[in-house]
Amino acid sequence: MKILFIGDISGEDGIRAVKDNVKNIIKKEKIDYVIANAENTTKGRGLNFTDYNKLKDYGINFFTMGNHTWKEKDCKIVLSHEDIVRPANLNKDFEFFDVGVGSKEINFKGTKIRITNLLGKSLNFREMQTNPFLKMDEILKEDKSDIHIVDFHSETTSEKNAFFLNYKGKVDAILCTHTHVQTADEKIRDKTAYITDVGMTGSESGIIGAKPETIIKMFREEIQFFKLLPNLDKYQFSAVILEFKNNEVINIKRILKYEK
Ligand SMILES: [Fe+2]
Ligand SMILES: [Fe+2]
Repeated sequence: MKILFIGDISGEDGIRAVKDNVKNIIKKEKIDYVIANAENTTKGRGLNFTDYNKLKDYGINFFTMGNHTWKEKDCKIVLSHEDIVRPANLNKDFEFFDVGVGSKEINFKGTKIRITNLLGKSLNFREMQTNPFLKMDEILKEDKSDIHIVDFHSETTSEKNAFFLNYKGKVDAILCTHTHVQTADEKIRDKTAYITDVGMTGSESGIIGAKPETIIKMFREEIQFFKLLPNLDKYQFSAVILEFKNNEVINIKRILKYEK
């Protein structure tokens, strides 16, 4: 079995990158199932119902999210679907605590695939999240899946490495997201596939997918809060392909493709 996992889809360029590439990759690589992190799809923040439907049409089977999950008004509708998880480690006081779930098992042609989404501690959104390591321990107690894939959505490479070393051998893949720049450290250790960041699928000439002016202004003028506006230009497509044999991961392959 082969699973394609696409890194943070960002804005219209990201949607076009999915439209142009996913069905071709499915055919060429004989992909069975497609998962995508879609937290930045709608104008850089969230996933509305229209874009959710578009991405389904373009070949995505299942969605993971991140710190931008709740920015769109219809996030409640989107998160009520069977084919999406939002971060699992939410604080009980967080206003969207009751909306959606953070770890789900699906039955794909007789194989039980669990997909889990967690927010790292090193993200600046601690008021909404609880400790991801403790939440992961809880999830593992209940887990009876054949294949378990975790999207660990976090800011620092050290926390992502710590999460990997803590949980290698206990899940089948730890695919990290959020920082939007693909890392070249994909590997399999103790039967767990890992990458520190899958990378971003969206505008190639922006800054992590966003309009450069906004981010440069933030650093030059030391502005704390800014609007993350997706850049509109040529895209990049970032993903990994996981290959399984008898439900054991045997290969992880990176894809980073630029629009011509
Ligand atoms: Fe993101
Ligand atoms: Fe994020």
